[in-house]
Amino acid sequence: MDINQTLENLRVSYRQAALDISDCDKNPEIQFDSWFEQAVKAKCDEPNAFILSTISNNRPRARVVLLKGIHEGQFVFYTNYKSSKGVELEQNKHVSMTFLWLPLQRQIRIEGTLSKVDTHLSDDYFQKRPRGSQLGAIASPQSQKVFNRAELEKYFFETEKKNANSETLERPDFWGGYGITPDYFEFWQGRENRLHDRIVYEKLDQSWTLGRLAP
Ligand SMILES: Cc1cc2nc3c(=O)[nH]c(=O)nc-3n(C[C@H](O)[C@H](O)[C@H](O)COP(=O)(O)O)c2cc1C
Repeated sequence: MDINQTLENLRVSYRQAALDISDCDKNPEIQFDSWFEQAVKAKCDEPNAFILSTISNNRPRARVVLLKGIHEGQFVFYTNYKSSKGVELEQNKHVSMTFLWLPLQRQIRIEGTLSKVDTHLSDDYFQKRPRGSQLGAIASPQSQKVFNRAELEKYFFETEKKNANSETLERPDFWGGYGITPDYFEFWQGRENRLHDRIVYEKLDQSWTLGRLAP
């Protein structure tokens, strides 16, 4: 297989739907809710997965995380505060989120600033996780180098053993939620002939202004 030939020949025509400013709610969060609901109904795989982009010393870094709630306008995900992203986020609070829902030929881009969520929210969510995920979160020194898989499993089994007699596990301080407060949204709908629809919301003086961008 010639990878370049394959890549050049991969081509999808986007014809499912259209998006105009008149179709969009004035409130981007309501527009997000409506598209998210459609992504769930369309059975998109892990529709709450998004690419979280951060800045590390002027260098962009990106990885996938899961949206786990929208609380008072903040888009919340959970992670290890001591991970690489946690360290980067201490230095620079500006982030972007990218959702890709290919079955609907849609992308949403959100930009904003982030802060740690209230510890009660993190505690509540931690208690809702399966015990295995709780143990994994406690045991894994996320983003640190480990020698091999066995070392990682050793951390897990030690944590499991240490907590064998505790019915509930306490959330460790180094694990919790971040909430992103958006100041920019872009809703992208794939269209024919690469003339895609891009509707943007920009926050100016506490109110949202809608516009259209060329594809
Ligand atoms: C579908 C998917 C969902 C993920 N969800 C999370 C998540 O919610 N939180 C998290 O910390 N990592 C999640 N990860 C792992 C991250 O992509 C990443 O590997 C990890 O957070 C370490 O990133 P860092 O070293 O940049 O901090 C997910 C990965 C995938 C592929």
